[in-house]
Amino acid sequence: MCPPTHFDVTYSINPWMDPDKPSDAGLAMAQWERLRDLYRELGHQVEVIEPARDLPDMVFAANGATVVDGKVLGARFRHVQRTGEGPRYLSWFQENGFGEVCWPEHINEGEGDYLLAGRRLLAGTGFRTDQRSHAEAQEFFGVPVTGLTLVNPLHYHLDTALSVLSEDEVMYYPAAFSPGSQAVLRELFPNALLATDEDAAVFGLNAISDGRHVLLPEAATHLIAELKDRGFEPIGVDLSELLKAGGSVKCCTLELRDE
Ligand code: ARG
Repeated sequence: MCPPTHFDVTYSINPWMDPDKPSDAGLAMAQWERLRDLYRELGHQVEVIEPARDLPDMVFAANGATVVDGKVLGARFRHVQRTGEGPRYLSWFQENGFGEVCWPEHINEGEGDYLLAGRRLLAGTGFRTDQRSHAEAQEFFGVPVTGLTLVNPLHYHLDTALSVLSEDEVMYYPAAFSPGSQAVLRELFPNALLATDEDAAVFGLNAISDGRHVLLPEAATHLIAELKDRGFEPIGVDLSELLKAGGSVKCCTLELRDE
């Protein structure tokens, strides 16, 4: 995770961002600290990277890389406002004992667009990650990569439209995907939990699950009820200030999967 020390909305690279709408820096920090503390209370180890003054979106650690089996595929950002983040996150991995670290050839925004479901990597494209990155990721990690095309600019990253709940369970918002990708998702996950328009509008899919607890935006009341029905323990989180930049729980969290 990366603290929102220098977080602000100073440019707009997705429809949630309006530089004319003020965000409260103190509240952003308090909300982020609450999320970090929740992970620790649940028994998860949290590593924290140093934020950079000129990179206000660096708080969205999910975009910093993709980690599978301890192997790290670095991120190469689509927008110049964020390109400085890629090398910073990559250096963190090099300095923290990750031996297999790859600087990518193609544009990819880390776990914003790559989500591991069991041993399959689901891979978004359409707005940020270049489709050519999918082949690069498959070759590097040696796990099957399934490409999914995003079509709604409000859901510009895969992790804003789909969340992995367990090895074989996901929840997603069908309307965020192209018709072909919706068919692929139906085939792979026939019992998926489908988000409503209301869930999607409050960023409810930007969630993290450890297989039991699911941390997600607290306004996603329909998802929270459905998750309970399925035996999960949903925990609602308020990250209102970070949502002003188009990010929430998952965006703030890069998962470090060991070997
Ligand atoms: N303002 C950031 C951007 O547009 C938000 C990134 C959110 N991160 C995520 N994993 N979806 O790039």
